[in-house]
Amino acid sequence: MLSLGNLPTTDVMREADLNSHMHPFTDHDSIGTDDLRVITSASGVFIGDSEGNQILDGMAGLWCVNVGYGRTEIAEAAARQMTQLPYYNTFFKTTHPPVIALAEKLRRLTPDGINKFMFGTSGSDSNDTVIRLARTYWAGRGKPGKTVMIARHNAYHGSSMASASLGGMSAMHAQGGLPIPDIHHIGQPYIFDEAGDMDPNAFGLMRARELEAAIDALGEDRVAAFIAEPVQGAGGVIIPPESYWPEIQRICDERDILLVADEVICGFGRLGTWFGSHHYDIRPDMIAMAKGLSSAYLPIGGVGLTDEVYEGVSQMGEFAHGYTYSGHPVSAAAALANLDILESEGIVDRVGTHTAGVFAEKWSALGDHPLVGEASSLGLLARLELVPDAKSGSRRRFDDVGRVGGMCRDNCFANNLVMRAVRDSMVCSPPLIIKDDEIDILVERAWKALDLTAAAVADEMT
Ligand SMILES: Cc1ncc(COP(=O)(O)O)c(C=O)c1O
Repeated sequence: MLSLGNLPTTDVMREADLNSHMHPFTDHDSIGTDDLRVITSASGVFIGDSEGNQILDGMAGLWCVNVGYGRTEIAEAAARQMTQLPYYNTFFKTTHPPVIALAEKLRRLTPDGINKFMFGTSGSDSNDTVIRLARTYWAGRGKPGKTVMIARHNAYHGSSMASASLGGMSAMHAQGGLPIPDIHHIGQPYIFDEAGDMDPNAFGLMRARELEAAIDALGEDRVAAFIAEPVQGAGGVIIPPESYWPEIQRICDERDILLVADEVICGFGRLGTWFGSHHYDIRPDMIAMAKGLSSAYLPIGGVGLTDEVYEGVSQMGEFAHGYTYSGHPVSAAAALANLDILESEGIVDRVGTHTAGVFAEKWSALGDHPLVGEASSLGLLARLELVPDAKSGSRRRFDDVGRVGGMCRDNCFANNLVMRAVRDSMVCSPPLIIKDDEIDILVERAWKALDLTAAAVADEMT
């Protein structure tokens, strides 16, 4: 039996893992014992493995460790709360100080009009809550037929039955009988893969107007809400053209539907503003949050809603929804300590006024690599498009989609950098506290991984 106080060798841990642990989003037939990296420590922007490697975490875990690793203030706040009150629920007319303080703080930080907060443990359950709130709201306003949620192809909203249905990931829909009824998907504003020769802003307007067309086709009396990430993250860091969000906002203002911003990745500073909605001037009726809310030190998620949505839902009497861990006091205390760090150290402002600019300049240099068709970033979210003919300016993709991206991801890992491959796009989302010289290390290691990948691709062709 593995004891945390006295770790055995890496090989023993790998074997024990494969004997008893089923990993998320993993093809178990394809992992060998040598493939597993055992992460044992972390500090700042680096994670450490059981073999002594220091790996620059260009993904901040899963887009979530915004304040970086090793912040003892968060650990201490959680420990204090564990001793004071490790758990109590927030059902049945009870509350506790950490959840009150967290809701009050979020009221100040979130976009104007978002005034009430319901908590859960993840982004997935936040988006389940969004669906239940949206449908209950319309029932409360005397329009119970408005149940359809419109989302986008290739969006990611989570992995529960309802949130994966909202998401537009075809691989997820192919397993387990998804999507649930009354979910409709429209196109994504993905310029590189889908705009062809169109002007990006014309393309953005065209994609936004698919929402209007969908409302007309489904019937406004059937549509409850539109949900979207300000910048699609797991779909491949799809940064919409400038024209996109103002047009979506216009449509949502003119039509009788709710607008939901899934801020699970963009929230808490990722774009250099507190929320993605601030960056794009989106006025959401609801926001979903998780990840950066606690910088992932403990699981917590939530939904923020306007007074209008809150009052509509309240028309239906008891809102029959909640989780044992809604507003968990220790997670709430950790989230508060995390938000204190983001605020008191000016981390969000620094991303907006300094780090994003430095990062953009250095990241864009990767666009000169012969394997890269485009290098783009917004705030500390970034993407590289890997293509076979970058030099000619062609956006044509590799035939076997995802294979070269997978090779590049493995080459990053082998060179002590975590980046993720989405098909043949490499995506990056480092902790917000990354320093300028650490950005240099990130870009150097990325370039090296690209070189190794390009060499392997060239070898295959000879
Ligand atoms: C935009 C977005 N929404 C929701 C989720 C789901 O969050 P969780 O994995 O905490 O359930 C994610 C996770 O990556 C996400 O990126």
